[in-house]
Amino acid sequence: MVDNLLPLRVDDLVVSRRGKRLLGPVSHTFAPQGLTLVIGPNGAGKTTFLKALHGIERISGGTLTWNTPPEDARQRQSYVFQSPTMLRRSVRDNLAYPLWVAGVDKALIRTRCDRWGARINLSDAMDRPAPLLSGGERQKLAIARALISDPDVLFLDEPCANLDGQATADIERMLTETQATGTRVIMTSHNLGQIRRLATDFLFVLSGHIHEVGPAAQLHTPATPELAAFLQGDLL
Ligand SMILES: Nc1ncnc2c1ncn2[C@@H]1O[C@H](COP(=O)(O)OP(=O)(O)OP(=O)(O)O)[C@@H](O)[C@H]1O
Ligand SMILES: [Mg+2]
Repeated sequence: MVDNLLPLRVDDLVVSRRGKRLLGPVSHTFAPQGLTLVIGPNGAGKTTFLKALHGIERISGGTLTWNTPPEDARQRQSYVFQSPTMLRRSVRDNLAYPLWVAGVDKALIRTRCDRWGARINLSDAMDRPAPLLSGGERQKLAIARALISDPDVLFLDEPCANLDGQATADIERMLTETQATGTRVIMTSHNLGQIRRLATDFLFVLSGHIHEVGPAAQLHTPATPELAAFLQGDLL
């Protein structure tokens, strides 16, 4: 259960590339429950941070401590990239892929794919090539593919970038439902309305450092002038 995978403790995490520090040192403890929004201007280090948390960005210093052994923690989390890539195969095969890899029984794969296809309104498109879907449909498919293996933690990098209001609303509903079933969500977003609708807490990243953290309510009364400026849409 998610309760023994988290909390996740981050101590003095640093990511450097070719002598340049992209992130850190950052320290933070991710509580067992909630939907955490990582916010901040372009180039602040949000994607680097998310990838480091998921274990797909080489860490130059510091430690990540899950509440279970790293290998166990790794298997129980999913990540949706800023621009997800689809297999050049059908919608069904894309949904099934993580389950095939995990060796799940064929009949169960079929049932789960049907259920998730229906949840993202793609029941009629299960045999169509995934690369031909619209941007919003592809994004929903990417999220469904990340959720189909019932992860305890879901990382999402800008899941609604370039989507219209309807697709964004559909995805927000999926994320709210996901969180209600106990999955811990950690995501980035630039959409201020979305941040206020979804977040239980936030991390404001600026120039590779955590500049301010707090519960979602603090977004109405920021503690630092930089966060206030960011929320007003000012350039930082
Ligand atoms: N592999 C890399 N090598 C060198 N620099 C990198 C590498 N990856 C990222 N960077 C730099 O690190 C900084 C942080 O990048 P990152 O992608 O984490 O920002 P971000 O906050 O996600 O931005 P955005 O809002 O545009 O997605 C940027 O200046 C970027 O150019
Ligand atoms: Mg990014």
